[in-house]
Amino acid sequence: MTAAVPAEVFSGKETYKRLIGYVKPYWRMFALSIVGMLVFAATEPLFAAMIKPLLDGSFVDRDPDLVRLMPVVLVGIFAVRGVAGFVNTYCLKWVGRRVVADLRQEMFDHLLRSPTRYYDAHGTGQILAKLTYNVENVASAATSAVTTLVRDGFTAIALLAYMLYLDAALSAIFLLIGPVMAFSIKYATKRFRRYGKRIQERVGSLTHVAQEVIDGHRVVKAFGGEGRESAEFSRINEKTRSLQMKVIAVESVSVPLVQLLSAVAIGVIVYLSTLQGMREDITVGTFMSFVVAMGLMLPPVKRLTAVNSQLQRGIVAADSLFELLDTETESDVGTRTLARAEGRIEYRGLKHVYDPTKGAVIHGLDLVIERGQSVALVGRSGSGKSTLANLLPRFYDPTEGRILIDGIDIRELTLASLRAQISLVTQDVVLFNDSVANNIAYGQTADAPRAEIERVAEAAHALDFIRALPDGFDTLVGDRGVLLSGGQRQRLAIARAMLKDAPILILDEATSALDTEAERHIQAALAALMKHRTTLVIAHRLSTIEHVDRIVVLDAGRVVEEGPHGELLAKGGYYARLHRLQFHDTPAPAVQSRPADAAGPRA
Ligand SMILES: Nc1ncnc2c1ncn2[C@@H]1O[C@H](COP(=O)(O)OP(=O)(O)O)[C@@H](O)[C@H]1O
Ligand SMILES: [Mg+2]
Repeated sequence: MTAAVPAEVFSGKETYKRLIGYVKPYWRMFALSIVGMLVFAATEPLFAAMIKPLLDGSFVDRDPDLVRLMPVVLVGIFAVRGVAGFVNTYCLKWVGRRVVADLRQEMFDHLLRSPTRYYDAHGTGQILAKLTYNVENVASAATSAVTTLVRDGFTAIALLAYMLYLDAALSAIFLLIGPVMAFSIKYATKRFRRYGKRIQERVGSLTHVAQEVIDGHRVVKAFGGEGRESAEFSRINEKTRSLQMKVIAVESVSVPLVQLLSAVAIGVIVYLSTLQGMREDITVGTFMSFVVAMGLMLPPVKRLTAVNSQLQRGIVAADSLFELLDTETESDVGTRTLARAEGRIEYRGLKHVYDPTKGAVIHGLDLVIERGQSVALVGRSGSGKSTLANLLPRFYDPTEGRILIDGIDIRELTLASLRAQISLVTQDVVLFNDSVANNIAYGQTADAPRAEIERVAEAAHALDFIRALPDGFDTLVGDRGVLLSGGQRQRLAIARAMLKDAPILILDEATSALDTEAERHIQAALAALMKHRTTLVIAHRLSTIEHVDRIVVLDAGRVVEEGPHGELLAKGGYYARLHRLQFHDTPAPAVQSRPADAAGPRA
């Protein structure tokens, strides 16, 4: 009807349609709920109608049977309303909870298939807020909006029909004043979309700050960051509050405004009908019935005026859910599968850009790793080592160039098949809140027999500490493995990788949390693990990579040197310099035979 605001209305419509799609599978329950609402609404005019026979006619004329029937009728009406109300509420909420559960599941599954890019760009708090707060908002807004629209809408229609039936002239006056009310209502509800959206963003950052403190409470305590965190939280908290107050202000202004307008309407009607003193045709009963019907109309009309804001709030929340659901998932268009790769890896003309404003972090890199070969990536932090490792399981897709496994472009493989070829151990070990055994046998290897799990635990030098845990392999590691030390966690991660037994192994600072002693033990296990696999090792401690077949030195995303350890040392270039530096900086570690030591200039 209104010509302007096309974009907003349009997007709102799209969102409604999409939401209705979620209700469709449960249309039977939904329909039942609508029936409940209609029955409930239909009983409303009966209250007004009961007035008429009580007041009309002289006292003696009154039918005593009819009057005696009144209490029974009254109880009857409430009994019907009670049942109808129950059916309505229960069925609608039933549908609502189903839709919430479906949406949550869909979002969660979408999240699982979202590229690493998405996680990089969105804070945990923001994603969690979508899954919790926003989904609830959609449900509550949609449920109450439907109730209001159908139940209150139909109640108003039923009352109006009864009023028309009672007296057309009075109804006409009432109808003239109605649109004025409607107009003022529209005005009040316009602001909601804007406020609603901002509030949701605020709540996202509220959880974000809280999340950071929960995750980093040790750092907060150790560095005395309480003041800063509290101030930050208080700032966002205050902003959320004041935004919410704005919504409350608009809401609470609109309600009395509508009531006032309604009161004016009733006043005008009463006034006009007293003017019509000449109207003999209108009885006391009719008039009172009419006024009661008008009065009964107030609450549903009041709720109807708030329905738009409810809907808007729901739409804003739903949009934020659909925003997540509409983000691209990892591209998984490859169709080829590999049973077990040979493990030859080729990086061809590889260029990678994370953030266009910051430029490429890998510049036209070519690197071939033969099957079964072990290659160490060495270089300053930020030189692109982890990026190379992360491109292989396609956590990111390279901006340019190709990566081949056994001569097949990894994009031609299904993601599942590609990732099945790769075992990954990184510096920050992720453990799930489950038993030690289930953390080792995770995902594809979940069905591994206990004996196998014990074997890899032993190989990863984890058996001793696992045995010492209260329930051994069945000990729960606690949320994110907090009950274990960094070194213990890393050994579990290594055991996990061993159990997966993939032809390609990536170790990205995999032993960085271990002390020299533990590392030396694990080195043997890792060496055994690397034997029949293509391995990409990234290690800060150069002492741990001396035995690899080839060392590739990266600097600012380019290969600056490559070759075996001895050769590179002899060359006296970049690697030799790094090596030398490390021996000056870290005098403590490993005192094994190290021929290179002699070459140190200031020994
Ligand atoms: N997810 C990411 N988003 C944006 N930039 C990133 C991301 N990961 C790494 N970088 C940037 O890419 C460069 C290389 O990082 P990385 O491969 O982690 O180096 P290394 O492992 O050698 O320390 C760095 O400048 C880093 O800031
Ligand atoms: Mg790294």
